[in-house]
Amino acid sequence: MGVLQGKTIVLGVCGGIAAYKAAALTSKLTQAGAVVRVIMTRSAVQFVAPLTFQTLSRHHVFVDTFDEKDPAVVSHINLADSADLVLIAPATANTIGKLALGLGDDMLSTTLLATMAPIWVAPAMNVHMYANPAVQTNMETLLRRGVRFIEPGEGQLACGYVGKGRLAEPEEIFAAVERHFQGEPGRLAGKHVLVTAGGTVERLDPVRYLTNDSSGKMGYAIAEEAVRMGAKVTLVSGPSALTVPEGVQLVPVQSALDMREAVLSRLGESQLIIKAAAVADYRPAVVAEQKIKKKADSLTLELIKNPDILQEIGTLKTKKQFVIGFAAETEALDEHAMDKLKRKNCDLIVGNDVSQVGAGFGGDTNVVRFYDQNGLVQALPIQSKWDVARKLLELAAERMAAAAGES
Ligand code: PMT
Repeated sequence: MGVLQGKTIVLGVCGGIAAYKAAALTSKLTQAGAVVRVIMTRSAVQFVAPLTFQTLSRHHVFVDTFDEKDPAVVSHINLADSADLVLIAPATANTIGKLALGLGDDMLSTTLLATMAPIWVAPAMNVHMYANPAVQTNMETLLRRGVRFIEPGEGQLACGYVGKGRLAEPEEIFAAVERHFQGEPGRLAGKHVLVTAGGTVERLDPVRYLTNDSSGKMGYAIAEEAVRMGAKVTLVSGPSALTVPEGVQLVPVQSALDMREAVLSRLGESQLIIKAAAVADYRPAVVAEQKIKKKADSLTLELIKNPDILQEIGTLKTKKQFVIGFAAETEALDEHAMDKLKRKNCDLIVGNDVSQVGAGFGGDTNVVRFYDQNGLVQALPIQSKWDVARKLLELAAERMAAAAGES
């Protein structure tokens, strides 16, 4: 039985020429066992008849909010509640804008506001519309709220332009939906992944400490995605308000020294080590046993260097281990990331320019570049930390398999 068997996918079809591709997508999803409930906008109906989707999905198609099909339920709430996933393909700039603004003036937008299910958006529009700052800002807003995007392709557009804006192919969207439900099991099956997350806490006295802005989101997203890909995952984390993802074994730590001990004692059992934590480079030379009293007009803190955990891992690692570091930079990202990669003997490093909007500490999104010993491998546009995590893990799984001579 496939992973889509019995899953309810609410498919929003917006008014663009790519609406015809949504018919092929409906067919694929239905054949895979999914229950596909189609909502079309009024403009979508100009391109493809609802009967096409009704025939392919074997369910009523919803267009008008007030055209209730079943008196026992309120359709947009019922659809919103029943969805395992809401997918908008193709998504126009208009629908993306409405979703970003929280507007509900038709069947699709009201359903989107009411649903608690994950929302995936596959945009399709003219290249200049796609690049328009208003559209980009709306997409960034949605990304921060956890909406996932299936990026449009580049090529000949129906409007005559060549560029980015073409709806991803139905096969691609189908594969992404399938991956969402199965998390590509097997790609990391049998592997033990050790992830670090969050910032460390360096005590000054019983009530004060030095720390940083790391929320743990990047590392937790990596841990969650690694479990979905079949790995056994240990997450060594500094203090974080986040819920531990299901299936992840949490090892809570406070200081860089605690993290070092927790990581090094588990190094031998780990095949993939990913250091997303923001570890303090320095700690107070002395930790006062009692609360430091206010006395003089100034107070000088002496800090001493913490051990560099990643560098130690780089020295200790065996040929069977794959090590990924992170580099949080505010300038000269390529240069600093490559320097850290080489100095700390990593297989990959993820560079994030934390001065960029939507990148780095605290938020749900990141803007990253992956590097290996030869230089830049991939530069990713702004996307959710889960998408970054999945792409990083897929790259790591591919490289590990290649190194083991599996592919
Ligand atoms: O947690 P979030 O709010 O989601 O934010 C994510 C993040 C910005 C923290 C994350 O994306 C990130 O960049 N993590 C690494 C931050 C960092 O400390 O970078 P660095 O350039 O200072 O360190 C480089 C690498 O060495 C890192 O892998 C770090 O874990 C490691 N390191 C650093 C110092 C030290 N003493 N020991 C280490 O292991």
